[in-house]
Amino acid sequence: MKGIILAGGSGTRLSPSTDSINKHLLAVFDKPMIYYPLSVLMLGGIRDILIISTPEDKPRFEALLGDGSAYGINLTHMEQAEPNGIPEAFILGEDFIGDDDVALILGDNIFYGQGFTTLFRRALENHRYATVFGYRVKDPERFGVVEFDHRQKAVSLEEKPADPKSDFAVTGLYIFDSRVVNIAKQLTPSERGELEITDLNNQYLKRDQLDVQLLGRGFAWMDAGTHESLFEAAEFVKITQQRQGFKLACLEEISYYMGYISQHALFKKGKTMEKTDYGRYLIEIAKRKHTEQYWEEIDRNPMLGMVENE
Ligand code: TTP
Repeated sequence: MKGIILAGGSGTRLSPSTDSINKHLLAVFDKPMIYYPLSVLMLGGIRDILIISTPEDKPRFEALLGDGSAYGINLTHMEQAEPNGIPEAFILGEDFIGDDDVALILGDNIFYGQGFTTLFRRALENHRYATVFGYRVKDPERFGVVEFDHRQKAVSLEEKPADPKSDFAVTGLYIFDSRVVNIAKQLTPSERGELEITDLNNQYLKRDQLDVQLLGRGFAWMDAGTHESLFEAAEFVKITQQRQGFKLACLEEISYYMGYISQHALFKKGKTMEKTDYGRYLIEIAKRKHTEQYWEEIDRNPMLGMVENE
């Protein structure tokens, strides 16, 4: 399974904050926005990830996340010349996807909730053709909307309908088989001049190959595309972290628990940012088993920690 994060777009709704910088590099409380979708793919166990951004900002994403080795994953960076629509990700990512299945997440989407990782992993495992996630919203007319029959089977999908047939929006997380590349290539731009993800999903629905998984009320799904929603997302992250004492979308923590990086690497990364709460959090996790002196000893004589940590 491959992963793609789509982090291009124009971000006009966040102007002037985004006049000179990509939206997905803005902070959602204590970390860049892109950490949140990246954490979702990592929690799903996906290690080959393509980050698609803009020509101006690709170097900034490279500076922030590099080739992913710091997190035990493989990151490839690519640019989308113009925001020509979400399905273009599959056309640009053709070589990267190859014959694999692919999970796409939009760079401004935040998912959180107990059991989300299990639900996503199960969806990845059971996935056959196309899987999308539905979420009940108050303002469905702003989204792609899915209509169900009495057996909860999807029967129609409409993009931003004036008169929505249900309250279920399609979120910015999608899993497709490798045919998605050719299906995306056959789409034609909509009236607003973009390839539409709803048109792509409709191609699968037409073939009776679209699985819609519902995220219940225990889940939070947010996009951080406007000043209001960005602020609300930051508040949500702050309050959740403060109450529970653990962080959302802490990439190093996820890498460590996935077994991709050592306890020592986690500790060292924490030390580089010790002045921040984020850095101290990494140190705290790394120290759960060992004392700080132990790590300082290992820093002086790395051979000591070889067997246990590498
Ligand atoms: P949108 O929120 O639809 O668009 P945008 O980010 O360009 O913002 P605005 O409407 O304020 O101008 O995009 C949803 C997500 O998909 C967002 O994370 C950006 C990404 N995206 C791309 O990377 N390329 C594209 O061509 C499109 C349409 C979106």
